[in-house]
Amino acid sequence: MTAETVVTQPSAAPAKPGSVVAKATKAIEVRDLSIRFGARTASPVLAVDRVSFSLGVGEFVSLVGPSGCGKTTILNLLTGLLHEQPEGDARVLGRHPSPGNPDIAYMLARDSLLPWRTALGNAAYGMEIRDVPKAAREERARDLLNRVGLGDFVDRYPKALSHGMRQRCALARTFALDSPVFLMDEPFGALDAQTKLQLEDVLMDLWSANRRTVVFVTHDLAEAVALSDRVIVMGARPGRIIADVAIDLPRPRHVRALQKDPRFHELYAQLWSLLEQGMGHADR
Ligand SMILES: Nc1ncnc2c1ncn2[C@@H]1O[C@H](COP(=O)(O)OP(=O)(O)O)[C@@H](O)[C@H]1O
Ligand SMILES: [Mg+2]
Repeated sequence: MTAETVVTQPSAAPAKPGSVVAKATKAIEVRDLSIRFGARTASPVLAVDRVSFSLGVGEFVSLVGPSGCGKTTILNLLTGLLHEQPEGDARVLGRHPSPGNPDIAYMLARDSLLPWRTALGNAAYGMEIRDVPKAAREERARDLLNRVGLGDFVDRYPKALSHGMRQRCALARTFALDSPVFLMDEPFGALDAQTKLQLEDVLMDLWSANRRTVVFVTHDLAEAVALSDRVIVMGARPGRIIADVAIDLPRPRHVRALQKDPRFHELYAQLWSLLEQGMGHADR
């Protein structure tokens, strides 16, 4: 996959984005999910072990846990990109995962905007794949680039943008899609602390204006607390859920202001101790 936002191609009988939202009680439902790599080899790896969780429509939930605990594997499964046959059940807006589900937009950490396209061309790319007419997609891409603070850089190519600016562009591309479900895999993982705080605030503004259901993978507990309605903590080897913590901080949130809120620090400490317990268990 070369694009930062993975834009799934409509499948043979495409569903209208969001068309099942009203019928599905949960946006995402995962039940007793186990995923094994190399099942037919001499040394299979149990990557995900009987994981169950669900997200209501419009919920923002972070998935945290040590490297290798299966976070990316779960997101790949939900997008239908995983080749392994899982055990258990997973549904997105009531449907089993399948590649090309237009209900999903997938944003990754790695910086891979298309180098031959300008910021505008990149922000519009996902809509182009989904056949949004040219004038409409350019208008929407410009609007989103303005909102992420790139209004003056629409004609720049990625090589002339900083890493933070490229991630802003990727955020614009993701939000430009109509998909009701966002899967975000450490999208700010490689940014410096200051830029990360700025982009978290941009993300909160965009999300508050149009609440998609978000699964946000991060290894940064402060980021998880600041953004989420709930944080699901996973333990390693094999990946299991060890806690599901409600984040009772009021919204709208301003990530930088939260750094001074005692409740923010309490939740951070609680998550940190849960994560340590999970790691300790795996090492025994
Ligand atoms: N394609 C693959 N083949 C074999 N093992 C894999 C593959 N993808 C991931 N794994 C293994 O599955 C586990 C979970 O990986 P991953 O989902 O990438 O973890 P995370 O995103 O939490 O860091 C790891 O042990 C990893 O080595
Ligand atoms: Mg990962």
